[in-house]
Amino acid sequence: MIYITRKEHFNAAHRMYREEWSEEKNKAVFGKCANPNWHGHNYDLFVTIKGEIKFATGYLMDLKDLKVIINDYVIEKLDHSNINKDVDFMAGKMASTELLCIEIFKQLKKPIEENEGVFLHAVKLYETENNFAEYFGE
Ligand code: NI
Repeated sequence: MIYITRKEHFNAAHRMYREEWSEEKNKAVFGKCANPNWHGHNYDLFVTIKGEIKFATGYLMDLKDLKVIINDYVIEKLDHSNINKDVDFMAGKMASTELLCIEIFKQLKKPIEENEGVFLHAVKLYETENNFAEYFGE
């Protein structure tokens, strides 16, 4: 079993708030992240796949193909978007790093695992240099 990781990057805006809460409560719970005029992050995304190396190529999977999948299913939807408003797979969800990480995993699992012998191992999402979430599918 080998593990290999592709790193990607996107910029996106979001806001942490609950519609049904007052402005004061949102501010108390989420602080600056509740700013009504939104704010942005430079996200770094690490997608790790696992499986057996193919004898003929020496690859687990051609990373050019992995890049295309990540781009089509995730980056295209998120880059320069408003996560709260524009991203179909985040509709109705809090735009937190944790939930975004889980939803990205769900988006990628099927298209990645359509490649024979390749499994999605983990998604790691950095919202800032110091804060990141990891999801392994459970
Ligand atoms: Ni934020």
